[in-house]
Amino acid sequence: MSTSFSKVSISMSGNFKKTVFITGASSGIGKITSLYLCEKGYKVIGSSRKLSRLDAINEQANTRGKCFYPVELDINLNFGEKGCIEEVIPKLISEHSRIDVLVNNAGYGLWGPIEGISVSEMENQFKTNVFAPFRLSKMVISSMRNQGFGRIINISSVAGWVATPFNGAYASSKFALEAQTEALRMELWPFGVTVSSIQPGLFDTDFQSNMVQGTDAESEKLPYGYLIDRYRKKHKKWRKVIRNPIRISKLIERIIEADKPRLRYPIGVEARAGMIGSKIFPERIYQWMISRISM
Ligand SMILES: NC(=O)c1ccc[n+]([C@@H]2O[C@H](COP(=O)([O-])OP(=O)(O)OC[C@H]3O[C@@H](n4cnc5c(N)ncnc54)[C@H](OP(=O)(O)O)[C@@H]3O)[C@@H](O)[C@H]2O)c1
Repeated sequence: MSTSFSKVSISMSGNFKKTVFITGASSGIGKITSLYLCEKGYKVIGSSRKLSRLDAINEQANTRGKCFYPVELDINLNFGEKGCIEEVIPKLISEHSRIDVLVNNAGYGLWGPIEGISVSEMENQFKTNVFAPFRLSKMVISSMRNQGFGRIINISSVAGWVATPFNGAYASSKFALEAQTEALRMELWPFGVTVSSIQPGLFDTDFQSNMVQGTDAESEKLPYGYLIDRYRKKHKKWRKVIRNPIRISKLIERIIEADKPRLRYPIGVEARAGMIGSKIFPERIYQWMISRISM
């Protein structure tokens, strides 16, 4: 994945455009977006479960003035545990005076037929992809409301709109994130705070290699083996369409600066096609098409 940028000269006199907090800044979309927004004159606070994973970006982002602030945060720690969201975020707000933009980006995919996924695996999927954005949003809302400005941007997925076979756990979590986004958006717009979701298709990050497979996903006790083989063959072809996540970083900047950001931003041909298809085709035909494309 390329992380080189054109040299845009910006003055880092401490006058940042806005303060952005992004989770999962160590890799993929979070990393490239942190670097991009730093270049564009934003102050970026980026989190990872391991501080050392932010060393490279810290060095790269701060070459022309301090603009990146790394923070260790495991978004899965329970309420009350040392270093949890509810302890870290208020400290960040007081240290940096404000958070203007929250990008709920950290997340992973849990893969396998629903029958092959354990309860605890599903719980963890929801902890990271749904409960963490919920808890993080709760922590920034009051300060954003007091400022009269805020942007909450949830990195959802095309899977938050269309579920495909063997991605049911991940899609469930992203569907839930979509509902959270939708309700919160209406609750907060009277206060100058907007909530949007980005629904990427396939982008070139470590997402695929970081995917977690359900313990019994390929168990011989379950009958999905031949369908999984077909899925894998089709999936190889899909991988040809993966693209550079810098497009998502640019979209995030557009949402930050828009007067009236939209609710949803599908990005990538397959994301747009998925959304349009679900609206124009009868349900049964659409499901048949998705099934044929997937396996
Ligand atoms: N790439 C795609 O094609 C694609 C498509 C649709 C949606 N998305 C969404 O985009 C977001 C970013 O993914 P990516 O593509 O950039 O993948 P990535 O390269 O794997 O990066 C994921 C980031 O999330 C953090 N993370 C993962 N699991 C975590 C956990 N359990 N607790 C806390 N942090 C965790 C990681 O940080 P640490 O490990 O350092 O803590 C890492 O920085 C995700 O929400 C994903 O669902 C990606």
